[in-house]
Amino acid sequence: MSTYTEQKKTKVTTRRLIEMKRRGEKIACLTSYDFTIASLVDEAGVDLILVGDSASNVMAGNLTTLPITLDEMITYAKGVTRAVKRALVVVDLPFGTYQGNSKEALASAVRVMKEAGAEAVKLEGGAEIRESIERILTAGIPVMGHLGLTPQSINKFGTYNVRAKEEAEARKLEEDARMLDELGCFAIVLEKVPAALAQRVTSQVSVPVIGIGAGSGVDGQILVFQDMMGMNHGFSPKFLRRYADLATVINAGVSRYVEDVKNTDFPNADEQY
Ligand code: KIV
Repeated sequence: MSTYTEQKKTKVTTRRLIEMKRRGEKIACLTSYDFTIASLVDEAGVDLILVGDSASNVMAGNLTTLPITLDEMITYAKGVTRAVKRALVVVDLPFGTYQGNSKEALASAVRVMKEAGAEAVKLEGGAEIRESIERILTAGIPVMGHLGLTPQSINKFGTYNVRAKEEAEARKLEEDARMLDELGCFAIVLEKVPAALAQRVTSQVSVPVIGIGAGSGVDGQILVFQDMMGMNHGFSPKFLRRYADLATVINAGVSRYVEDVKNTDFPNADEQY
């Protein structure tokens, strides 16, 4: 008998990611914020697509991730979920929609699941947001944690430098990671922390640890699509590897188009009706 919940065997689920960790198979993750890029990223075999609140910087041109709203995140996420067939789609809950009030946190997560068709949500923080994580999990919504550099707290940290270099902060991060694991989060992002610490955390938790600027001793990696494809020459952190130079490709293509239009070379006889 067929059911409405039948899934393709290849579909990545939270469970499958945990199995990948157990098998020692690395997990490849990228961000996407729209239908076209998400289709390409999914077809290329990425396991997890994050509709990150980095959309605030990358898509909306804000200096920080703080201004993006839940409505905006849902609009970006809808395009992504319409495109993706295989990867697990996780959506960031934006700043101010889950901290301090677990009922509001659940309401935000429910909106992301219902309206955008997300498969999980990501929240930044540890013990401070425990209640929100617990409440979201009790509704059957998978949660991905995010520790280390948490850009929504930029005004508290004051910089985007590497986190948890000092013993006390490293210890708190390890405790938070164990707590997220025990609560039932299905994965944890570790951003910009020393590689040795990330490796230690990875060995202490049962769920996948996905690193960005956290070295190679973790279970998977995530990068922002526009950064790794070289669409932004101005952002060059040490951890970033560029796999293309799309800024140059796009500039060359657009410049040629402008020239062709100005010279009345485009459209030519074959390009009109
Ligand atoms: O918003 C984002 O893109 C993220 C990743 C950098 C992990 O949180």
